[in-house]
Amino acid sequence: MLQKSLVLLKPDCVERRLMGQIIARFEAKGLNIVAMKMLRVTPELAKQHYAEHVEKPFYPSLEKFITSAPIVAMAIEGLDVIRLIRDMLGATNGLNAAPGTIRGDFSSSRQMNLVHASDSPESAERELSLYFDAVEICEHELLLTPSLRAEDE
Ligand code: PPS
Repeated sequence: MLQKSLVLLKPDCVERRLMGQIIARFEAKGLNIVAMKMLRVTPELAKQHYAEHVEKPFYPSLEKFITSAPIVAMAIEGLDVIRLIRDMLGATNGLNAAPGTIRGDFSSSRQMNLVHASDSPESAERELSLYFDAVEICEHELLLTPSLRAEDE
């Protein structure tokens, strides 16, 4: 199923100059970046984004971190892309993430885990609307799609 996921390159990713390497992995996989912008997450946006975690003990630290420096927000489109990107990221805690995954290769932390990605179609819809207006999503069919998958895939 063709889906979109909200992907955030978090402050640690920007600070560590890893944006290019991580974006390159999504591009190499054949995924389609249909929106992208750099922004500073406000405390208000953080509370909306992490609504299900606001009451958890770690939330103050998480908000301080996510608002500490710019992030890059992307809408990424592809077949089964919500599960696929979560698989590419690996486990939440970089210490547990398998080698070969983004966090497994670049992170040793649960908080500084470089990238956020939506975990379900419902989350994706909610999170995409927090970061992008509908007009900011640049739907486009890549000319190389026939080189990436068969017509019935
Ligand atoms: S939970 O509640 O632990 O199951 O949450 P999880 O879905 O694994 O993680 C949600 C996001 O919260 C961050 N997180 C933490 N930050 C700081 N300290 C602690 N202890 C902590 N636990 C989880 C984690 O990096 C997740 O961020 P996202 O942006 O969703 O990857």
